Amino acid sequence: MVQLARDEHEMLDGKHGRARQRAMEILVQYADALGAQRFVNTNNVHLLIGFHPYPEVVTVTDGDELASKFLLDTDEKIVVDYIETFNTTHIFAIDLERWKLMGAPQSLHELMESIKKYCIRTGISLTSTCTPYQVGNIPTRGEHCAWTESSAVPYCNAILGARTNTEAAHSAFPIALTGKVPLSGFHLDENRLGDQLIQVETDVNSVMDWYLLGYYAGENSQIEVPVLKLARPMVPNISMLKGFNAAGASSGGIMMYHIVGLTPEAPTQAAAFGGRKIQKTLNYGNAERRQTYETLNSAEDSGVDVINMGCPHYSLEQLRDVARLLDGKKVHGNVTLWIWTAHQLKDIADRNGYTDIIFKAGGQVMTDTCPLNTNLFPPGTKVVATDSAKQAHYTPAITGFDVWFGSMQDCIDAAITGKWRGELK
Ligand code: F3S
Repeated sequence: MVQLARDEHEMLDGKHGRARQRAMEILVQYADALGAQRFVNTNNVHLLIGFHPYPEVVTVTDGDELASKFLLDTDEKIVVDYIETFNTTHIFAIDLERWKLMGAPQSLHELMESIKKYCIRTGISLTSTCTPYQVGNIPTRGEHCAWTESSAVPYCNAILGARTNTEAAHSAFPIALTGKVPLSGFHLDENRLGDQLIQVETDVNSVMDWYLLGYYAGENSQIEVPVLKLARPMVPNISMLKGFNAAGASSGGIMMYHIVGLTPEAPTQAAAFGGRKIQKTLNYGNAERRQTYETLNSAEDSGVDVINMGCPHYSLEQLRDVARLLDGKKVHGNVTLWIWTAHQLKDIADRNGYTDIIFKAGGQVMTDTCPLNTNLFPPGTKVVATDSAKQAHYTPAITGFDVWFGSMQDCIDAAITGKWRGELK
């Protein structure tokens, strides 16, 4: 049974209000299920509040009732006063401004407006992105966090050296209300050490290469902690690491990993394993790279209906690069080009003229969500092309569409010609 500190007992006894009492009731059960001995304080939560995978089951639009039912698991209407814990929010169900372009129904827009008002009143930050680290949520090394979103979790753990488990909407909300997270999983030193070694024998110089490597690592490591050793050391940028994380959390469940000589807890291979026995050694070479690429390409028809880019949400650098590729070009009349990013980054892209270039070419820069989560694709869509291994992994299963996976250049080429001509170089 989890041991409670005095302030935690007080919350459970209702001395800090009904909302914190209900939150602590949930967290005690959660901590016991995880086998946690105690809680630790947190001041960094990435909440999931604006998205529900089954909007048709939501029959109320009052923010307090919604939060009570879905996040505090009760029919009692509990009014939250203010969430003191620093927080950001994961995606909402629609682009909060361009929802009509997505074909979203008015009812969903009204539901999102209601949730937005609730967030503003209760101190929840309206970041609405799967990449909180791109818009100002950058925890310090060792900081205890509680993040939702599978692709963001390894960024927090492996790249920043902060500490989080993969939280759900229903755990992150009580954690934010109380500022308490169960001390378990990746909050503990011993669970952060490497389990298996992946020797990377081929060059990984592009974002696409990092998606492929991440997909391979996820397939083979599942929820274990891989330690990657690059044959030729290089320093990946944020877009590459983002791709690795998203792919590894899709084909498997990577939440923590090390890259020897690069990530903060792996100055050496010995430090990454911390004396633990290496359970398995894998070699990732050209054959594994090609096999992974072929796994991700399920389409046969070279005609493309939708190009979906920006999963996880595009960085500023990627917005700049895609605008450059589209400058002066025209998207094919049969193709819808959607580029997803955080609205904060779109704001900078607007100022720099990137959005305008993309719009003039016939593409759209969309924010706050991604179509996979709400399954809102243009009518008649059969084939989707993407530069994201995460989209390539989930799209066939969720939508039944065929998918092409390739580089940013391959996707823009398909957007302009209407035909997929990508290949592994
Ligand atoms: Fe983000 Fe959607 Fe991809 S939430 S990580 S763009 S599947």
